[in-house]
Amino acid sequence: MSSAALLTAEGLTKRFGGVVAVEDCTFSVPTGTITALVGPNGSGKTTVFNLLTGYLRADAGTVAFAGRRIRRPDPIRLYRAGLTRTFQQARIFPDLTLVENLVVAIQQPWRTIVCRAIGRDDRSRAFELLEEFGLVQLAEARAGSLSYGQKKLLEFATVLMAEPQLVLLDEPTAGVNPVMVAAIETRIRELNARGLTFLVVEHNMNLVMRLCDPVIVLDHGTKLAEGRPADVRNDARVLDAYLGA
Ligand SMILES: Nc1ncnc2c1ncn2[C@@H]1O[C@H](COP(=O)(O)OP(=O)(O)O)[C@@H](O)[C@H]1O
Ligand SMILES: [Mg+2]
Repeated sequence: MSSAALLTAEGLTKRFGGVVAVEDCTFSVPTGTITALVGPNGSGKTTVFNLLTGYLRADAGTVAFAGRRIRRPDPIRLYRAGLTRTFQQARIFPDLTLVENLVVAIQQPWRTIVCRAIGRDDRSRAFELLEEFGLVQLAEARAGSLSYGQKKLLEFATVLMAEPQLVLLDEPTAGVNPVMVAAIETRIRELNARGLTFLVVEHNMNLVMRLCDPVIVLDHGTKLAEGRPADVRNDARVLDAYLGA
C-alpha cells in the first residue's frame, strides 16, 4: 500500500454565519486506503465532503487531488477527474429506471431523459455494475420503487460509472438493514482490492474498526485525532468527544 496522498486538505475552514462548521482542518487520504472520517453529529463531516467536492466554497484552505491543487472545486469537473461522492440522503432519479440512473450519471442528463438515447457502452457498463451490486434483476424498474438500502446501493453504483480513483461515501450504511450493510461492506472491500481509494463517513464504529485504516476524528469542525483504528479507539480525547457530547 502506497503512503502517497491521493487527496490532501490543508487548513479547510467554513463558517455559516456565526457557526464555524469546519475550522483549520488538515488531513490526507493515502492512495489505496479506506480512510474513515468520524465524529459526533454536527462535527462537520458532511461539510468537509461538500468543501472537497465543490458543493460549498471554503472560507479558507486548499485541496489537492492526485497531486494537483484544485483551485475552484466543481462537482462535475471533479467527477470527470476521478473524484466522486455519495450523499447522506441518496440522490437518485426516482422516475428513471436503474439503468437510466447509471447512464445519466456520465451523460448530459437532458439527452437521456429527452431522447432516451443510451450509448451501447454505457448501457453494458451499467448492466455490469448492476450485476455486481445484485440489482440486475431490477435494471428496468423505476428507481423510486427501491427500498431505502437499495437506493443507497444504486447511488453507490452510479458514482462508479466514471471509473473514479477516489469515492467519498457519506454514511453509506445509515438506516440500512444488516444484510444490506454486509453487501455495502463487501462492495467497498472488493473495489478497494482493485485499487479504488475511499473516504468514508460512518457512524457504525464496528464497521469502521474492521474496514478502515486510517481513521480521522473530527470534533467541532477540528481534527481531533488521526491514526490506526486501534490507536484512535483508545485515544482519551476521542472517548471524551463521543461520550462527553
Ligand atoms: N448549510 C448550512 N447552513 C448553516 N449551518 C450548517 C449548514 N450545513 C451545516 N451546518 C452546521 O455546521 C455544523 C456541521 O454540520 P455537518 O457538516 O452536517 O456535520 P456532520 O455531517 O458531522 O453531522 C453543524 O453545526 C450544522 O448545523
Ligand atoms: Mg453528515
